[in-house]
Amino acid sequence: MVNLPIEFAERMKRLLGEEYEAFLQSYDSTPSRALTVNTNKISVENFRDIFPQKTTPIPYAEEGLYFEGEERLGRTPLHHAGAFYLQEPSAMIPVAAAQIPSDAVALDLCAAPGGKSIMLAKRLKNGCLVSNEINLSRAKILYSNIERMGLKNVAVTNNAPKDFAKYKQTFDVILVDAPCSGEGMFRKDEDAVRMWSEASVRGCAQRQTEILDSIVDCLKPGGLIIYSTCTFSQEENEGVVTGFLGKYPDFVLEKPTDEVIKITAESKDSPYMRRAYPHTCGGEGQFVALLRKSGERMPSRLIDVKTASAKTVSAFLKSIDLEIKYKMDGDRAETGIPLDLRGLRVVANGVYLGNTEKNFFKPSHHFFTAYGGNMKNKFLLNIGDTEKYLRGEELICDNNNGYCAVICEGLTLGGGKVSEGRLKNLYPKGLRNFK
Ligand SMILES: C[S@@+](CC[C@H](N)C(=O)[O-])C[C@H]1O[C@@H](n2cnc3c(N)ncnc32)[C@H](O)[C@@H]1O
Repeated sequence: MVNLPIEFAERMKRLLGEEYEAFLQSYDSTPSRALTVNTNKISVENFRDIFPQKTTPIPYAEEGLYFEGEERLGRTPLHHAGAFYLQEPSAMIPVAAAQIPSDAVALDLCAAPGGKSIMLAKRLKNGCLVSNEINLSRAKILYSNIERMGLKNVAVTNNAPKDFAKYKQTFDVILVDAPCSGEGMFRKDEDAVRMWSEASVRGCAQRQTEILDSIVDCLKPGGLIIYSTCTFSQEENEGVVTGFLGKYPDFVLEKPTDEVIKITAESKDSPYMRRAYPHTCGGEGQFVALLRKSGERMPSRLIDVKTASAKTVSAFLKSIDLEIKYKMDGDRAETGIPLDLRGLRVVANGVYLGNTEKNFFKPSHHFFTAYGGNMKNKFLLNIGDTEKYLRGEELICDNNNGYCAVICEGLTLGGGKVSEGRLKNLYPKGLRNFK
């Protein structure tokens, strides 16, 4: 049983009235397990076939599934291959709530560890995403998730919100999944309970207001800010949104999708500000408000990704019949997204393809997760070899010499280099946690 702070319990009683008992009882139940399927790699149907009778669709998120089973999903080859991302179900609400144009240029301002960026990037079939995280070690985790999913249209940056000041009228969509007092995490995270105080709620509300102020000019006319938190306090939710609308009269609240409306409660302040509670939504808790800026949507100021031809990179790509535009940053080759990111601290811009080293090119793990499926030289693993590969062991194989994609159940796990019947394992050392 979670030991709730007394002031928090009093606040929730006032907020929920008769529903408070049901809310309280939710702390005695086990949180739902859920995931989003990486539909760039596998369809939801095919994923469900792998786990018969263990998954149930989440009605508001097209790629979301509840999962009932004891499997340690994070340790499965499918997880290593980026087939899915483990995500608390109500955390899927903010992206699912919005209609996102497939050619949008988007910014996810507070993005780590990345669940919402992954959902967003998949919706941007012809668009791109700047996925930003202020904390460097969290930004690295964010990139590792983007890399595992093999996403091609994302740049990961490590900046404070104010660093985006020069990107005036640049983004069609800005997601602000704001740092908050985390009341919706109390069932799962004892630290969130310990750190909670009324003063911290007020501090968070102040910081959320500052974060929104610092990026409001980055939105294009006609653009959308998705504001979300995983907390219940009115100060951090309705308070911040109402203050924002008072300050910026060219914004109005937009109605979320019907599916999200169905599973959320309307806020006392507006039917378009939506609240999800653990006793009603099958998840931990979330708040979302969609803030639409007036005006006609204007075209994006996209740049041409400058192409460069480093001999070794081009020779490598030619040898595997892949035509990819890329640019060089020192010895580093990357595809880039069509935005000028100068002035930002960039962790990765598009797909980091690899490094040139003296007279040769060494492809990166991201190269294999993004383009491995396009390679002709594929090494298909059986179950035993899959475990060995994920442990970083060398394998026997009869593929052609050279780089190859290493495939498990049709999905690329990573890469390898074949030489005379042996596969040198290129699975990154930091990811070799397969027991
Ligand atoms: C709720 S979490 C984001 C979760 C993420 N959107 C996801 O779906 O995985 C909030 C993030 O905001 C970051 N953050 C903390 N202080 C911040 C600030 N002052 N400005 C911007 N981001 C901040 C935190 O490091 C944290 O990663």
